Amino acid sequence: MKISVIGCGYLGVVHATCMTELGHDVVGIDVDPEKIALLAAGTPPFYEPHLPQMLSRALATGRLTFSTDISVVVGSNVHFVAVGTPQMVGSDAVDLRFVNGAVASLLPHLRAGDLVVGKSTVPVGTAQGLSRIIQQKGSGATLAWNPEFLREGFAVKDTLAPDRLVYGLAEGDDTGEAILDEVYARAIAIGTPKVVTNFATAELVKVAANAFLATKISFINAMAEVAEATGADVTQLADAIGHDVRIGRRFLNAGLGFGGGCLPKDIRGFMARAKELGVDQALTFLGEVDQINNRRRERMVDLAREIVGGSLEGKRIAVLGLAFKPDSDDVRDSPALDVALRLVESGAAVIATDPQAVATARRRYPDMTYVTTPDEAAKDADAVLLLTEWQEYRALDPLAFGEIVGTKAILDGRNCLDPGAWRAAGWTYRALGRP
Ligand code: UDX
Repeated sequence: MKISVIGCGYLGVVHATCMTELGHDVVGIDVDPEKIALLAAGTPPFYEPHLPQMLSRALATGRLTFSTDISVVVGSNVHFVAVGTPQMVGSDAVDLRFVNGAVASLLPHLRAGDLVVGKSTVPVGTAQGLSRIIQQKGSGATLAWNPEFLREGFAVKDTLAPDRLVYGLAEGDDTGEAILDEVYARAIAIGTPKVVTNFATAELVKVAANAFLATKISFINAMAEVAEATGADVTQLADAIGHDVRIGRRFLNAGLGFGGGCLPKDIRGFMARAKELGVDQALTFLGEVDQINNRRRERMVDLAREIVGGSLEGKRIAVLGLAFKPDSDDVRDSPALDVALRLVESGAAVIATDPQAVATARRRYPDMTYVTTPDEAAKDADAVLLLTEWQEYRALDPLAFGEIVGTKAILDGRNCLDPGAWRAAGWTYRALGRP
């Protein structure tokens, strides 16, 4: 099929590349010429495992091109809208500027039979409005909403082999499903579950899934608060309740909580939309979910203060991890970066490192001290804070690492180390929700 992808951010680049891998002819469009030049040269503008290789392969086929010129979408029959929907400045609501702009720029180029496919995460009700705008233009093109569930770090796998497909279609649309089935033919062939529904349900599936995941994480972090007050161990608690198949162990890792470009802004946008719809009471609990999540960051700074003897002023703190999660260079709403900055504000001398996110963190906060390796960060440190559970940090040898630091004190912000091994090597080990 001939496909265009509007928006070459995280979602768009992965989608365009994977669609080429699936055999389609794809053009990726973005308003940022620098990004387009990088992509055309085979360099993704962010870190994502397996993507550079796949992008090079896709470009080599000649079936993937990039452009800043929206008119090159002519000739494509399916137009994916994959632009960002950030949180509005000064409000919890979603900023739809880019989605509206993308659809407006597509309008003059749409032809009869074309399908515009929304992938961006939008407030419920958006697709209905956009569908009307497309209809009014009278080109004969139609709209479908097909939310994306990819996780950073697993984006390629999640796009090529999604765990489900959701198609939101207009009432009476009998061609949208067949077109999307052709786009996703490989996933359909292996029996990927498919839910065909209306626009509102498709839009809600995405925010409901993220709200559920955020709630699961904040639930276990709330249990961590109780565990801290009682001497219980939240990781054992999670293991034990996770054996109940109705609960499940995944997304029950207590620690610094969630961040990134999706979960935090999606739950806030969901609450803002519910308020507009007059059903805000249904989602007030998400405000608690957000607050529990933010409290973990404060608690981490308090623990750091405790472990260095009561004041952070002038203390040398090694920060391991800046990305919001491992296998990503994304520092948007990153709990790790947030804690590092709070430590700086409290007067600590922070030496921070991350295998991939130093450049992205430095772009936002040039004044913090960044180094390349954990050993450099930990040299003569008064305390070490592990804030993102990269594999190379999980694998640190407490004996060898103990030779580098000034004081053997470690805070495990992700409950990913073996407390016994670290304590046996002479470290003071503290974690969130563990005795
Ligand atoms: C999320 C959704 O999972 C994905 O389906 C959606 O499309 C986009 O948003 P992502 O932002 O890549 O994906 O991250 P995810 O793996 O969901 O993790 C989100 C945050 O929760 C991270 O900060 C992670 O560290 C944290 N987390 C996750 C926990 O604190 N505990 C857990 O048990 C799991």
